[in-house]
Amino acid sequence: MSETGFTTMAGPKSERSAPEIGIGMMGYAFMGKAHSNAFKKLPYMMYPPVAIPKLVAIAGRNEAAVQEAAARYGYVKYYTDWQDLLKDDDVQLFDNGAPNDAHAEPCIAAAKAGKHILCEKPLARTAKEAATMLDAVTKAGVKHAVAFNYRFVPAVRLAKDLIMEGKLGQIYHFRAVYLQEWIMPHYGTPHIWRLDKSVAGSGALGDLGAHIIDLGRFLVGEPRRAMGAAQTFIKERPGEGGKMTPVDVDDAFVATVEFENGALGTLEATRYAGGHKNSNCFEVNGEKGSIRFNLERMNELEVFWVDDQPKETHGFHNVIVSEGYHPFWANWWPHGHIIGWEHTFVHEINHLLDAIVNDKSVAPYGADFEDGYKNAVICDAILESAESGRRVDIRY
Ligand SMILES: NC(=O)c1ccc[n+]([C@@H]2O[C@H](COP(=O)([O-])OP(=O)(O)OC[C@H]3O[C@@H](n4cnc5c(N)ncnc54)[C@H](O)[C@@H]3O)[C@@H](O)[C@H]2O)c1
Repeated sequence: MSETGFTTMAGPKSERSAPEIGIGMMGYAFMGKAHSNAFKKLPYMMYPPVAIPKLVAIAGRNEAAVQEAAARYGYVKYYTDWQDLLKDDDVQLFDNGAPNDAHAEPCIAAAKAGKHILCEKPLARTAKEAATMLDAVTKAGVKHAVAFNYRFVPAVRLAKDLIMEGKLGQIYHFRAVYLQEWIMPHYGTPHIWRLDKSVAGSGALGDLGAHIIDLGRFLVGEPRRAMGAAQTFIKERPGEGGKMTPVDVDDAFVATVEFENGALGTLEATRYAGGHKNSNCFEVNGEKGSIRFNLERMNELEVFWVDDQPKETHGFHNVIVSEGYHPFWANWWPHGHIIGWEHTFVHEINHLLDAIVNDKSVAPYGADFEDGYKNAVICDAILESAESGRRVDIRY
């Protein structure tokens, strides 16, 4: 394998020999754009492709807007009702990029219609809702994935591999923060769906916290107990017609987590951390070393080894995770020619297509609906603890 970057300029299998998978996309805004971008990039970058995503149709509620989205991203058809998308026999993979209140019903219907499913995170607004979704995909026997895309950052997957290989020894700490600033007063953010419990389920917790909870489970293991506190700093914002509308979700939360393997975790997420645009950071401290990651520098992983030599340079070292032998890198560029946030979706979808075509499991490297359900149980436990002031056991 090349040590200086990409290795797959050409392959033994031509693009034409890979099967096509028909994509039905729901939602055409932030995630609709990110996923569509990944579907298009995938067949010529993940080469030779395991499958070729065919952009069959996209669904939205506003006809003019969804028609424009179809033309922009290259979907052949559009629908103004997701039910029609699910009736389309050309759709084999249903991709749900809608807000959280529109995850359960369409995903359950998609499973009943025999479609494979990629659903954005959080899987659902509550664990109870997530359980109905897990039940539906299990009964239908379709492949299912939740878009916890940070598992597919090369540096994060390297961190996972190092931990799994025992390079850090016993894990003592998982310390994760997910910090943004975009609803602070100086932004003048109005009341949007992310601030409405009936749509979002929770606030910073389900939006950002779900990602670091997933990383904690991915890297360290299952938590058995959680204790949390949450706060809503601005209690109402101008909604439709400028009418002041209550904010009924958390703006920020902090939590402590005790893992089954004895490790201690701290989690924090907020949209009120001035200066932080998208700081998804974690640190893992183990018996033999430590690793730390910051999404704003996502091509890097900092590592510390207890027995590193010489002692004069003992300390954290910065690794640019971009070698041909690093996770996912064989398909990209010569080393140091870095990749970005959008490429995590290419890796994630490629993983799911591989599972569909070759009848593999999405877990443990990808997140499936069981991970989405367990994530929701932990989110619920943190909120319950924040309300009661008591530690809460995690029970799946
Ligand atoms: N993985 C990530 O890093 C990440 C990042 C952002 C958002 N998300 C998740 O993705 C989901 C969507 O978030 P977003 O930021 O793209 O939101 P958004 O508001 O930008 O887009 C939502 C889209 O869904 C459409 N929509 C809403 N209700 C619909 C319905 N009933 N039928 C069809 N279309 C409908 C809207 O028109 C819009 O196109 C959320 O669950 C969110 O938590 C994940």
